[in-house]
Amino acid sequence: MDKDQLLKYSMLDFFQNDSKSVLDPPADFEEWYSHPLVSFGFKFAGQPMLSAPSTITKIQSAVDDQARRIINLTSYNYLGLSTHPEVIQAAKEALDKYGTGSSGSPMVSGTLDLHVEFARRLAEFKQKEDCLLYSSGFGGNLGALQGILRKGDCIVIDEKGHRSMIDGGLISGAKMYFFKHNDMASLEQTLEKCKGKRTLVCVEGVYSMDGDLVKLPEVVALCDRYGVQLYLDEAHSTLMFGENGRGVGEHFHLEHKVGMTFGTLSKSFGGVGGFICSNARIIRYLRGYSSPWNFSCAIAPSTVAGLMKALEVATRDSTLRDKLQANTAYMRKHILDMGLDIGKSESQVMPIIIGPDSKLLYELAAGIQQRGLFLQPVTFPAVPAETGRFRMSISAQLTQADMDEALNIIKDVIVPAVKK
Ligand SMILES: Cc1ncc(COP(=O)(O)O)c(C=O)c1O
Repeated sequence: MDKDQLLKYSMLDFFQNDSKSVLDPPADFEEWYSHPLVSFGFKFAGQPMLSAPSTITKIQSAVDDQARRIINLTSYNYLGLSTHPEVIQAAKEALDKYGTGSSGSPMVSGTLDLHVEFARRLAEFKQKEDCLLYSSGFGGNLGALQGILRKGDCIVIDEKGHRSMIDGGLISGAKMYFFKHNDMASLEQTLEKCKGKRTLVCVEGVYSMDGDLVKLPEVVALCDRYGVQLYLDEAHSTLMFGENGRGVGEHFHLEHKVGMTFGTLSKSFGGVGGFICSNARIIRYLRGYSSPWNFSCAIAPSTVAGLMKALEVATRDSTLRDKLQANTAYMRKHILDMGLDIGKSESQVMPIIIGPDSKLLYELAAGIQQRGLFLQPVTFPAVPAETGRFRMSISAQLTQADMDEALNIIKDVIVPAVKK
């Protein structure tokens, strides 16, 4: 294949594999991967950080293998809680008391008093009857959906919904439909197809690649009209939206309309894990059928103790939420003033959309990194090919000086290239 032809391909094109052994990838995948631009792009994935994923950290740069101080606008540490002194202290105390691991699945022996108390507090926080904790957010989404849906049911997912919801739906055997992103006419057409079936509509509070909010009032109205249930993934909105930080459900005053509310513990909480809150009867049922809960080790005790403290710190007043909102507003204003495209972002998840030219995107990623700014390039198939982008995460931890330095680098490196 000639070199230019190779650049037309993406990971989506190598799914089928007709090599002789399952341990061999397809031959043309190897050829594609060895193209200098493709392998350069892959270099950005998995660059090791040399200190905490805070807003100022050090990275072992993929561009020139140098250890470099950077402003980190890529991590999910939206409230800076992973390094909060009270969180660290709580985790340290639990480490001394319980050791490093839970040493069992929640069903068998991995449930410690810490897990029980944290799940109780999360259910209370989300104003639901009960809660189940999972050792990863991905496993939580997958496990909740796989645990309650059955063959003959319908799962209806926004086309920008997270992979973990799709995989949960696939494993469940339910008939899966996608509707156009935030498009109510498309949702309605899909619900027509599911008439007469047990149906679950799955949406996200804040969409993870675009940072826009679900049109929750309209989605709720349609769910009511068709008599179907609603599942809300608040991975990127819990602790950040709503008067008390409960998420986008609270923001729209519609929490009571959400049948199941899901959250990750890896983002604003600053740890790892996932949780699902709902009525006590379905949570009891899930305990019997949710594979990642039954068959995967529980969250480490020190992490749970840190998470419990993170919940306390983030909800005792609105300081962190307010700071995050102020930082987001500042960054949004200045990025827009530079004429850059942030799509429909309404949150701390703010893409800078560059376009279909992935060579340019990777060159810019290298350029800003050399100046001391870390933004991860995101290309097809993670986002549509024509909307290759930097996915920027704003954090409450950013100081005025950090933001101004980051904006200067964006102005010097990205703006001239995009304008050209
Ligand atoms: C919307 C959404 N749901 C679920 C997950 C999975 O969460 P975790 O990374 O904690 O496993 C993610 C992760 O990025 C996400 O963006």
